Amino acid sequence: MMDSHKQLFSLSCLPLLLLLLSGNMGMQLSEARLQRHEMNYYSPKTLFVFGDSYVDTGNYRINQAGSSWKNPYGETFPGKPAGRFSDGRVLTDYIAKYLGLKSPVPYKFRKVMQQHLKYGMNFAFGGTGVFDTSSKNPNMTIQIDFFKQLIKENVYTTSDLNNSVVYVSVAGNDYNFYLATNGSIEGFPAFIASVVNQTATNLLRIKSLGVRKIVVGGLQPLGCLPSSTATSSFQQCNSTSNDLVVLHNNLLNQAVTKLNQQTNKDNSTFIVLDLFDTFTSVLNHPSTNNIKDPLKPCCVGLSSQDFCGKVDENNVKQYKVCDSPKSAFFWDNLHPTQAGWEAVYKKLQKTSALHQIRY
Ligand SMILES: *[C@@H]1O[C@H](CO)[C@@H](O)[C@H](O)[C@H]1NC(C)=O
Ligand SMILES: *[C@@H]1O[C@H](CO)[C@@H](O)[C@H](O)[C@H]1NC(C)=O
Ligand SMILES: *[C@@H]1O[C@H](CO)[C@@H](O)[C@H](O)[C@H]1NC(C)=O
Ligand SMILES: *[C@@H]1O[C@H](CO)[C@@H](O)[C@H](O)[C@H]1NC(C)=O
Ligand SMILES: *[C@@H]1O[C@H](CO)[C@@H](O)[C@H](O)[C@H]1NC(C)=O
Ligand SMILES: *[C@@H]1O[C@H](CO)[C@@H](O)[C@H](O)[C@H]1NC(C)=O
Repeated sequence: MMDSHKQLFSLSCLPLLLLLLSGNMGMQLSEARLQRHEMNYYSPKTLFVFGDSYVDTGNYRINQAGSSWKNPYGETFPGKPAGRFSDGRVLTDYIAKYLGLKSPVPYKFRKVMQQHLKYGMNFAFGGTGVFDTSSKNPNMTIQIDFFKQLIKENVYTTSDLNNSVVYVSVAGNDYNFYLATNGSIEGFPAFIASVVNQTATNLLRIKSLGVRKIVVGGLQPLGCLPSSTATSSFQQCNSTSNDLVVLHNNLLNQAVTKLNQQTNKDNSTFIVLDLFDTFTSVLNHPSTNNIKDPLKPCCVGLSSQDFCGKVDENNVKQYKVCDSPKSAFFWDNLHPTQAGWEAVYKKLQKTSALHQIRY
């Protein structure tokens, strides 16, 4: 299926090495590593989240175009629409789980869920980018302003911040908007550089507020999302798009390396979570996670004008849902299912990526 794009789908060496070492030897290695770092083991108490629909757990407005508060979203978890762009849990929920924390409360609900504020807060809004997009929701700069205001109001103390992790999702809305407003393919590299530059500016600003660890998601293979693969009946990733994603990720890695060198002694404040290799690996080995037909979304519109969650004026569904969301990687045109996110999370646990957050 993806053979003609092999070079884009090769795993980086590290996960492969860990795969080869899995079993006893791998265990001993990681135990040794744990012991060596025991003194520096970091156990964060709060999680703050910025970004878009890959991590939004309810900030998106209920009556807004877009479907996260409509059926069949949320049907797996929590059992009804609850503002997540999936049938169930999303990446943030799994990152919180990894850290042993409750999933942080959406900014929108901060007043009604005060007892949960101590676990952190989720400032992410679906549809947004680091720059303005077609969405009227607050871009990342404004999301950080919200955070700054809460710090000013002493909702979070210096010590809370010093014991926190931040996750930043930049999952491609800037690029969708660029394409939708007739941006040229030739102009893409320069635009990518400006998106990465703005991302780095945001990371520095978050750090300056007193946060200890900042994790930024690498861009997932946009060319493998159903919105890109529909033209090939969900058989073939768009390699032009994925080449551009690789450029984004290379620039992001360089920017983060530079930020670490500029701001801290042990190069460990800023971390990139490699979602490109992770998505790719899961999509290339679907059966490992009991996923069938990996590029095909579970919930699709009946016609090309329709989309998951759409109903007509008589409230008749204009979409259909697959029999088993558990066996699908993608939920709708852009977003993984809970099973998809869980597979990504399991894969991330096998690499050093998540591990780095705690050291
Ligand atoms: C973010 O949104 C605000 C308000 O709409 C706007 O003034 C600002 O230019 C935007 N920031 C970026 C980096 O696009
Ligand atoms: C943050 O916590 C670390 C480790 O406990 C400590 O060394 C450092 O001084 C703290 N920084 C601030 C600003 O409290
Ligand atoms: C983009 O191009 C299409 C077709 O050329 C045109 O209809 C549309 O108005 C343009 N959109 C923008 C935002 O310039
Ligand atoms: C963004 O680009 C400008 C202009 O090239 C540069 O001065 C600035 O340092 C960059 N910001 C970051 C955070 O890399
Ligand atoms: C692949 O994506 C690019 C934009 O990133 C687009 O211009 C091109 O038409 C797409 N190719 C196919 C075969 O859909
Ligand atoms: C941090 O990065 C710099 C530059 O790459 C390197 O010289 C230094 O050894 C690194 N420090 C640690 C603790 O890894």
